Amino acid sequence: MADNILLIGFMGVGKGRAARALAGLTGRFTVDTDDLIESMTKTRIRQIFAEQGEAHFRQLEQQAADWLEYHVSGTVVSAGGGFFMVKNLRRLGQVVYLHSPLDGILEAMRRHPNAEAKMKKRPLLQDLDRAETLFTERLPLYRQAADIEIAVQGRESEEIAADIAARLRR
Ligand code: S3P
Repeated sequence: MADNILLIGFMGVGKGRAARALAGLTGRFTVDTDDLIESMTKTRIRQIFAEQGEAHFRQLEQQAADWLEYHVSGTVVSAGGGFFMVKNLRRLGQVVYLHSPLDGILEAMRRHPNAEAKMKKRPLLQDLDRAETLFTERLPLYRQAADIEIAVQGRESEEIAADIAARLRR
């Protein structure tokens, strides 16, 4: 099994920020699965969804997961919101679910100076009713996929990172 730490959770929950804080704290590098896919395809996620559809994007996530399994170790991986569905998730490392209620996630996103861009780049956040359904469907699946769960609402990334590091050390 690769010795990575994977952060999973719903869109906008702050996986990227927490991953960078955890990387800084533990002296690791961090990679983001959406960035891997964008660099491999030279295409934005939004454009992949629009032109090739979600099923194709999920195949690209599986390709990224296969690459991570054989080439990446000792790294903090910030996973796209649906990445937890890849077949080899547990072989990539320890899995940490970052949890916040959906209204907390949306509220924090709206307060962000780049709120519009943050919403726009996420095809599955365009329709809020659908996002709510997706959140409800995924919540038990995130919990099932994870080794540990960390509550993140209203917390700074540094504090979240310290919490993750302490929980994984136990
Ligand atoms: C998705 C989450 C996004 C991105 C894509 C699909 C999802 O990543 O991978 O838009 O299925 O939840 P973030 O969680 O980083 O927004």
